[in-house]
Amino acid sequence: MKRWLVDRLICPECTALEMPLTLTIREEHGEDVWDGALRCLDCDRIYPIRGGVADLLPGDTRAKMDAESGYNTPAMLSAYLWSHYSDLIGDPQATDAYRQWSSRIPPRPGPALDVGCAVGRLTFELADTHAHVIGIDASAAFIRSARQILTSKRLDFDLIIEGNLSEPWGCAFSDRNWEGVEFIVADALALPFRSRTFATIAALNILEKVPDPLQHLMEVNRTLKPSGATFLFSDPFSWDPAVSPPETWLVGSGEGNSDYSPRGIDTLRRMFTGAFDLFDPPFEIVADGEVAWKIRKTANLWEHITSQYLVGQRD
Ligand SMILES: C[S@@+](CC[C@H](N)C(=O)[O-])C[C@H]1O[C@@H](n2cnc3c(N)ncnc32)[C@H](O)[C@@H]1O
Repeated sequence: MKRWLVDRLICPECTALEMPLTLTIREEHGEDVWDGALRCLDCDRIYPIRGGVADLLPGDTRAKMDAESGYNTPAMLSAYLWSHYSDLIGDPQATDAYRQWSSRIPPRPGPALDVGCAVGRLTFELADTHAHVIGIDASAAFIRSARQILTSKRLDFDLIIEGNLSEPWGCAFSDRNWEGVEFIVADALALPFRSRTFATIAALNILEKVPDPLQHLMEVNRTLKPSGATFLFSDPFSWDPAVSPPETWLVGSGEGNSDYSPRGIDTLRRMFTGAFDLFDPPFEIVADGEVAWKIRKTANLWEHITSQYLVGQRD
């Protein structure tokens, strides 16, 4: 974890108090803390830094994140590395989704946050328009992989063909300046950052993946600057009761809040512009639309996804 990040961090268990963290370093590579710990001055909780990866998950979330399941499996890693980087490797099946999303975000002088960054493609794209960009994800495997790309400026991975059969894939990023990029393991529902920190926040395809979608949006509102700020939101709204209870879905039908609109994108549109007192100050919606993207599971199995996006601006 790069040293410049420490002053921006707070304890994820004490977000209301915005308690800073003290850094202990056991091993450092230049400005990169390789082995150490972050400790909360109030609750005394300790967040480890191992192999350069800082883990700021609250205790409850960490307990739920099974190291070998969900987004932490080799199959998911192969699927998302292909999804994020296959256009750079020249795969004819690739989409240009992450370039499309990043092209919707204007340059800003302040820092950017990519919430649920997975293996980091949008975070790296935002480095072209922001001096500092932080990608956070609850999957330690994804963040380790993103950090490996960051530090080696190379992508090398085993692309699954089928079963245990895979082939080596990769590309180099030697000409990129990523001094201001960092990735940490953190929870979208308890962001370890001070309020009003970010000039830009992107949250792609994560709303439907968290147990409390409203809390995720509240954390975006808390950590985004009140002026001179952009929020890029995108989601396919494929709600899943195994992830979040239906009463938390941002849709007006079924067990949800009957004041919400029947479609999630319409509820979000209303939230952006001031309904439900969620975003304060509200946004002006300056762009909207759809982005098609794919996840590749095996040589013969893709998921084709259409994600609806809104770009909100606070001036
Ligand atoms: C559908 S993927 C989208 C990833 C990436 N934003 C993209 O569009 O390619 C959802 C991501 O959210 C992450 N995630 C799920 N729950 C999370 C949480 N509570 N906090 C942070 N990340 C989370 C997953 O690990 C995964 O990387």
